[in-house]
Amino acid sequence: MEVPNLEKFVIRGGVPLNGSIHIGGAKNAAVAILPAVLLADGPCIIDNLPEISDVTAILKVMHSLGAQVKMINRTSVEIDPSTVRSFVVSKDMAKGMRASSYFLGALLGRFYRARVAPPGGCDFGIRPIDQHIKGFESLGADVSIENGMVDLRAQRLSGCSIYLDMVSVGATINIMLAAVRANGLTVIENAAREPHIVDLANFLNSMGANIMGAGTGVIKIRGVGRLHGVEYSIIPDQIEAGTYMVAAAATGGNVRIENVTPKHLESIIAKLEEVGATVKIFDDAVQVIMNDRPKHCNVKTLPHPGFPTDMQPQFATLLAIAEGTSIVKEGVWDNRFRYVDQLTLMGAKIHVDGKVAVISGVEKLNPAPVRAVDLRAGAAVVIAGLMANGVTEIEEIGHIDRGYECLVEKLRGVGADIQRVSEETQQEVLKQA
Ligand code: EPZ
Repeated sequence: MEVPNLEKFVIRGGVPLNGSIHIGGAKNAAVAILPAVLLADGPCIIDNLPEISDVTAILKVMHSLGAQVKMINRTSVEIDPSTVRSFVVSKDMAKGMRASSYFLGALLGRFYRARVAPPGGCDFGIRPIDQHIKGFESLGADVSIENGMVDLRAQRLSGCSIYLDMVSVGATINIMLAAVRANGLTVIENAAREPHIVDLANFLNSMGANIMGAGTGVIKIRGVGRLHGVEYSIIPDQIEAGTYMVAAAATGGNVRIENVTPKHLESIIAKLEEVGATVKIFDDAVQVIMNDRPKHCNVKTLPHPGFPTDMQPQFATLLAIAEGTSIVKEGVWDNRFRYVDQLTLMGAKIHVDGKVAVISGVEKLNPAPVRAVDLRAGAAVVIAGLMANGVTEIEEIGHIDRGYECLVEKLRGVGADIQRVSEETQQEVLKQA
């Protein structure tokens, strides 16, 4: 998927956010559940889909494989995978999106054959797929790289025991996708425990799979002969919710975040409370209230239930205006501090050494022209723009569109002054000036 560069966000910051925001379906669950539909022998309806470009890209791949894809409304889609004949996902289709790798597991489970270009996605340093490949090989597939494509072939898939060398969301998902159609029992040890892993397991089980232990470090999958079509609703997006919670705190606001699963937000709530926010918890909502300048705190990102790496840039942005010095350690990715240069342009004082950032809190951030260098880095500079008094312009917002639905509308709904400006509008403004 190409990330379009022609639009930008213009934010007039310094306004505390106030009101309520409705959270959409989880991106990282949707991008796994949609490829999983390929395993069904009849149509599936998927509800609570987020309206983001990564979902559009996955649906395009499904269509290119031969699935019949029909949007029922903005957040529900009906997909009939019974017409799929192809097992090839080309480079053009796979680039720009990490989740394209899930077609490897889903197509292997469906056809015992898959040929998929290596995945793209955010640039956090090297993003290997060796654990995915180890899983496919253990299940009985021959794996080769031919003409830049990952090629999987199996006569049959057989249940096995796989120990992941590191906790990997993607490898856990890919192995589950193939193992549901293997003969016998597959055990994944050191499995990822993220909410989207559990959501995928619930989806597959509702189709007739037999998966136990999702949400723990050991997942057991007993293969089944067929999976049937179902209607399924995706869980709320933990990271979208967390992003708006941090935005509320960073602007000294009072925002109720609705349609969330508070259990999924525990680590984020704990850290917000540590910096001085009040967080009220309801059945399916949380409310974040911040009256004072945030206090400093230390954060280390870890696989779930640790503090999510996908919230690290946003939280570091909040800490940029905290009283005192905070230390942020990135425990998942080698290089997830590329956004720091952008925050520095806005007056933040952050020193990065490898996987550690030392943040000396400043009283305020200043507006500046900045870039969204990747998806969550983009969310971070949006929060920074909302905090800074004056006009911040953010370029390369295609990255943000990959994972945040209706961001402008949602933020305007809580009082933010933010616009999406197209190149044409910019030309118009220049002409009139
Ligand atoms: C998923 O990426 C998410 N993407 C990421 O969210 C998220 O940051 C990440 O999990 C960690 O939570 C999707 O769900 C589409 P991993 P994934 O495999 O699956 C190493 C966002 O912002 N590793 O859990 O690619 C890897 O290098 C995105 O929404 C191997 O060494 O992540 C990393 O250090 C960005 N070999 C660590 O494990 C492998 O075979 C965790 O990666 C696989 C991973």
